[in-house]
Amino acid sequence: MADDALAQLRWLRTPEGTAGVARAAALLAEGADLLTGLGRLRAEVGADHAGPAWELARARARARPVFGADADVLFLTADTLEQAGRPELSARRAARLLAGGQDSAADLGCASGTDTVALARAGARVLAVDRDPVARELTAANVAALGLADEVWVVAGDVVELVAAARGGEVAGCGAAVLDPARRAGGRRQLDPDRWSPPWSTVTTLLDRVPVSVVKVAPGLDHDRVPAGVEAEWVSVGGSIVEALLWGRGLSTTWRRASLVGDDAVLELTADADPGPAPSGPVGGWLHEPDPAVIRSGLVSLVAADLGATLVDPTIAYLTSDAPTGSPWVASYRVDEVLPFNLKRLKTLLRARGVGRVVVKKRGSAIEPETLARQLRGPGAGTATVVVTKVAGAPTALVCGVAG
Ligand SMILES: C[S@@+](CC[C@H](N)C(=O)[O-])C[C@H]1O[C@@H](n2cnc3c(N)ncnc32)[C@H](O)[C@@H]1O
Repeated sequence: MADDALAQLRWLRTPEGTAGVARAAALLAEGADLLTGLGRLRAEVGADHAGPAWELARARARARPVFGADADVLFLTADTLEQAGRPELSARRAARLLAGGQDSAADLGCASGTDTVALARAGARVLAVDRDPVARELTAANVAALGLADEVWVVAGDVVELVAAARGGEVAGCGAAVLDPARRAGGRRQLDPDRWSPPWSTVTTLLDRVPVSVVKVAPGLDHDRVPAGVEAEWVSVGGSIVEALLWGRGLSTTWRRASLVGDDAVLELTADADPGPAPSGPVGGWLHEPDPAVIRSGLVSLVAADLGATLVDPTIAYLTSDAPTGSPWVASYRVDEVLPFNLKRLKTLLRARGVGRVVVKKRGSAIEPETLARQLRGPGAGTATVVVTKVAGAPTALVCGVAG
């Protein structure tokens, strides 16, 4: 399998392969479906090469919104594209990793080389390691395609062994390292960090032995796992968590960090120690939903203090206050009605207020938002957001932002 994939990848890098992928891209752009596209390509590049050319053209088209112009020359597979982080985030990580002046870095599990590229572009000489020969070939192809081959050495190796052998603050002779363990197996998310590849023990060994290191972890990582002195950062873009990072002790400057990455600026919220829970209080005129990076990083109470807000329930990450806020750390909703959660009463109330369409949000409730939104649909032209949650322990519906 790997031999076939390698042979195909090598062909894709030849002038004939380049022409085949360009042809596939043109067919895709014309809107050709799989059968038509493959049929034409078979006639032009042969049966063996038609599939790989089509797949690469498709992967590049999927990568373009995230990778921009690089996508047109990158070598990707559906798998490595799924594992790849966003290049702007890899660049941000590389910049912080190298800010202290390290001039060499190891990318421990390079896959198709997104981090390798970011590290090389940030000025480091990079040792890109992977045990998978297809990953190594992809990384080598990508650094060559982007003109970075002189800065990068792609090598076969077992990251577990390399990290176990790390000494003097270096791993494989490099003074800085990125580790991004594979957190999927058989197409499914692997929730247990001990079953990541490399496993959790390699993560902690790296953080212990190489102070200038950063590890990408699952956003759901239990806080108890974060080693003392290591900074944990949760990063969100557009209201969704995109990555969680553990920064080694040579880079760590705080206990937890929530970062909100926008097009032009990055906002950061930090705490040097656990700020503890926010106080709870009755529902006021506004409901505030903290950004998921704030919630995951355990910094809700900082935002609450800043807004003069309280939690609607000690166990639920919704905040409430009487005043609206322009804070970038929360999405805010004007509260129009608060009632015990009851489908019939909710329907009656929405009908009476002329609301025919709702968006349902929930926290701390087993309801299925889309199902409830359908059940609440009515003839009225108005719209609203219905938030189903717990308030002081009781299942509650908050009807917010009634409009129209
Ligand atoms: C999540 S991917 C890395 C993605 C990469 N940082 C990117 O943004 O494209 C993890 C990679 O680690 C490699 N890997 C997993 N366990 C390894 C081990 N013990 N030794 C070497 N490579 C390993 C996998 O083959 C895979 O390519």
